[in-house]
Amino acid sequence: MKKLIINNKESRYPIIQGGMGIGISLSKLSIAAIKAGIVGTISAAQPGFLYANFRSDALGNNLKALAKEIKAVRKECPSGILGVNCMYAGTNYDKYIEFLAKQDIDFIVSGAGLPVDLPKYLVGSKVKPAVIVSSAKAAKIICKKWMRTYKVLPEFIVVEGPLAGGHLGFSKEDMMSGNYKDLETLTEEVLIEVKKFEDEFKTSIPVIPAGGINSGREIAKFMKIGSSAVQIATRFIATTECDASDEYKLMIVNAKEEDIVLVPSPVGLPGRAIRNTFTKALKVGNFKPRFCVDCLRVCAKKDIPYCITEKLGNASGGDAENGLVFSGAKAYLIDKMATVKEVVDELVVDYLYGLRESK
Ligand SMILES: Cc1cc2nc3c(=O)[nH]c(=O)nc-3n(C[C@H](O)[C@H](O)[C@H](O)COP(=O)(O)O)c2cc1C
Repeated sequence: MKKLIINNKESRYPIIQGGMGIGISLSKLSIAAIKAGIVGTISAAQPGFLYANFRSDALGNNLKALAKEIKAVRKECPSGILGVNCMYAGTNYDKYIEFLAKQDIDFIVSGAGLPVDLPKYLVGSKVKPAVIVSSAKAAKIICKKWMRTYKVLPEFIVVEGPLAGGHLGFSKEDMMSGNYKDLETLTEEVLIEVKKFEDEFKTSIPVIPAGGINSGREIAKFMKIGSSAVQIATRFIATTECDASDEYKLMIVNAKEEDIVLVPSPVGLPGRAIRNTFTKALKVGNFKPRFCVDCLRVCAKKDIPYCITEKLGNASGGDAENGLVFSGAKAYLIDKMATVKEVVDELVVDYLYGLRESK
């Protein structure tokens, strides 16, 4: 398989384990991912959620948790490729990035908004900036702005399509009416846009599709059109090493196609999750937030359907039935628990078959 280079390090397989908050992709999952030959990503979305005084000091506990999780990965995998996913829509984004710039990680990847100023915080740091986009237009804006202002281009660009898990980069109206492009089309469009910057600045920017990629044959399809790697998240939830609760993992294993639904979110964009007691009762007024740690710059705080930190935290902490169980659209294809290595090995073997078939 083609190797993926990030921050001058080589990943054995061109696969990034996607960042998953809250508490789904922490050190245990990243360690297993790196040991299986792929890239690990820790999520910076409220990793301190289960710490004792989280509600009175979310930022302090989250930074403490991030330092602990990164250290745990580095103890086991000193030279593997490790990154942190930090959402641009989050409160205190600047403080998280300033802190992460000094950590032993290889990249910071930001989506949920356009991280136009991410490189500003990484001047003099060995940590590289990367971005998640859902359109070629967004990729162009980031490349142009970063090059013009900071003289850097993204270390890589993740193209997140309509089948991804968590928050989607498409409006509810577009998702409901089917007015969106599939991941293959989006990836091709981003590749065309990115090529202009690669040619002008004599460099290469890996383009990495994500969302609904569940088999090696699909990886082969995306590599064939010019992608440098793929990002996969949901497939790694139902693994022994994933940091999610067993209840969360079981919900993924047991999900049928009709159980995977779109839900509104205080972020203002639709999210994809598994239908459960919580999503069935979802209506403004039914789930009044019990506390607020001011997690999102974009949250209206009033008249929101629920508190995203509280409900994602519930799910990852073990009460999956009454929490928000984010999941990609293809979770229904997962029907058993496995180790991360088993998942990666299966993807690689299937990829090789896929390549052979397409010759
Ligand atoms: C449980 C879950 C939580 C996620 N949390 C985040 C997050 O905090 N930030 C983010 O940028 N993307 C998040 N994502 C998106 C993933 O990183 C990934 O790009 C996407 O889910 C890929 O699609 P797949 O799950 O079908 O493989 C999340 C996805 C899932 C399934």
